[in-house]
Order: sequence, then structure tokens, then C-alpha cells
Amino acid sequence: MVIYDYNDRTMSFELLISFTSKAFSDRAHTKSRVMSWLEACGRSDFVEGVIDGVDMELTAYEAESGQTSEERFSESPLAVFDPVEARSRKLCRELHVEFGSDVRMAICEISDESWQSCWRDEFSAFATSRFFITPLGDPISTPPGLTRIEIEDRGEAFGTGQHATTRAIIKIMEEKFIDWMPTSVLDVGTGTGIYLVLAHELGVKVLAGTEISSDLVEVARSNCLTANARAEICLANRPAFDAKFDVIIANILVPVLHDLMPDLVAQLAPGGRLIVAGFVEKEQGPLVQKAKAQGLTVAIDAQELGWKCVVFVQ
Ligand SMILES: C[S@@+](CC[C@H](N)C(=O)[O-])C[C@H]1O[C@@H](n2cnc3c(N)ncnc32)[C@H](O)[C@@H]1O
Repeated sequence: MVIYDYNDRTMSFELLISFTSKAFSDRAHTKSRVMSWLEACGRSDFVEGVIDGVDMELTAYEAESGQTSEERFSESPLAVFDPVEARSRKLCRELHVEFGSDVRMAICEISDESWQSCWRDEFSAFATSRFFITPLGDPISTPPGLTRIEIEDRGEAFGTGQHATTRAIIKIMEEKFIDWMPTSVLDVGTGTGIYLVLAHELGVKVLAGTEISSDLVEVARSNCLTANARAEICLANRPAFDAKFDVIIANILVPVLHDLMPDLVAQLAPGGRLIVAGFVEKEQGPLVQKAKAQGLTVAIDAQELGWKCVVFVQ
């Protein structure tokens, strides 16, 4: 897998993809099909976090707008961001060849500033059962009984806790770490480093993380520093630590989870637990098979707003 460095970018190109045929009205299946295709083209990294923004359960929206999921999906395209315009145009041609006249596409130029502020706008303080997670420097006061966690999102970092997958993982950490008492946690695809900060607050001593974006590595390090959490966070597309970990967390798109499964298992301490999220029910079977083939069994099968979160145990 290639490591893309987003740091020098000032503009991005957004390729919007939508489908006009009823054959594509099943959102989860379409997402999975497009993602597999993008992965085969070596492009899945550019969709990370963006395709995840497509809510898999739009009940609230549907009630408000009077639209069905099918109508909403055809209007709500998938988006692929790329700092290189020529690559977006090439992808556009390839999509036409693959999906024919059923696919509708548009390329727009967006400044990083507008992309970043769009992410930032979405991050506001929220409470979990034990924590109150706020943007760094937010003047909002902490509700009694909750531990305040300040997270700097610096724009495009996914992992402010707003996404259903992140919330599902936080819930498992809050509920289960008391029993599991892990001494070490590895977070693969750490984003803002939110799980490392929470693990520190929950008493975990050894913390490590990986990220494929050097910008996000800095964001995660900065958030850990703010929280006084000592964590080793590396720019890497595969975890390769000498140590083994009691808990490994990976909230990444399913093709990446498939690809990384052997590496994740290799980093797991005996009896350790692997928490994975970032996929929907239809994608779960093959992932579970892959994990079982590596000697893992399913310990917890949870979901939040249509997104699955599975805990495997070794
Ligand atoms: C969906 S976000 C999750 C962020 C945060 N951990 C959370 O759960 O809220 C996935 C993150 O994984 C990173 N990523 C994607 N592929 C990766 C890989 N092979 N190794 C490490 N990080 C990866 C992306 O850059 C992105 O920040």
C-alpha cells in the first residue's frame, strides 16, 4: 500500500459519484461494490472518512425530508478526494468504463480551507457515559460527573467521536476496559488519537498508534501530549511494533481491515482482543472468516446506526 502525504496540498479535487439505476439503490451493497473496485484500482485511501460520512441509516433524515433511502441515496453521491486533478479525471473515465451509463459524476475543485472548516463545523462537544469530549479550547463547561477530554481535530482528521463507528468503540472501551484491564493498547489508523487519549484516561499504561497521513500523526501526537498520554505514534501503513498488545483497535474501511488482518493478529498478545469497526453487516461475514482463519473468535458483535463493531479474542 502506498503512503500518501497530504501535507503539501492546498487544493483538492472532489469527484462526486452517484448512480441513476435502481440496481444501485441498495446503499450498503453499492458502497461495498464501489469500495472494492476503488481498492482494486489502488484508490481506497482517498475515500477514507468521506465514504464513511454517508450515513447508512438515514431514518431521521428520511422522516424530515419525506424521502426514502433510495431517493436519498441517488441524490447523495459518494465522494473521492484527490489532490491531483489528472488522477480524478482518469478515475472518472475508468468509472465510466466500469459502471457505464448508470454512473453520474462531477468534479469540483475545493480549497483545503473549506474542506477543513466543513469537518471542523461538524465537531461539537458531546457526552459519553464517562467522558465529555470537546474541541480543544471549547469554553463549554463539563457536566458534573464526567471527565473532560479535549480533542484538536485540525480539519480533516476523522476521529472526533462524532461518527457512529467511533462512538461504538468508545462505548466498548468504557464498558469493557474495567474487566479486561489491558496494560497496552495499539490503535491502527488512529486519526486524532482519540482512543489513545481515552485509553490513557482509563488507566492503560502502554499506548501506540499508526497512521498513513503524516498530518494526522502530528494531530494524534499533539492530542496525546495535551492529555499527558505517552504514546508511540508512527507513520506506517502496517503496524510493526516489537511489542504485543492486549487490545488492538482498528476503525478502518473493510478492504484495509482484510489486508491488515494478519498484521493485526501478529501484534496481539496471547488472549488479546481486537476491536474492529468501519463496515456494515453485509461486509461482516468475510471479515469474520478471515479473522477465524487467523485463530480469532468473535467475543462481541455490536452495532451503532447500521455500522458494525466486532471484538475478536485470541
Ligand atoms: C475511519 S478513520 C478512524 C479514525 C479514528 N481511529 C476513529 O476511529 O475515529 C481511519 C483512519 O485510518 C487511517 N488509515 C487508513 N489506512 C490505514 C493503514 N493501512 N494504516 C494506518 N492507518 C490507516 C486513515 O488515514 C484514517 O485516519
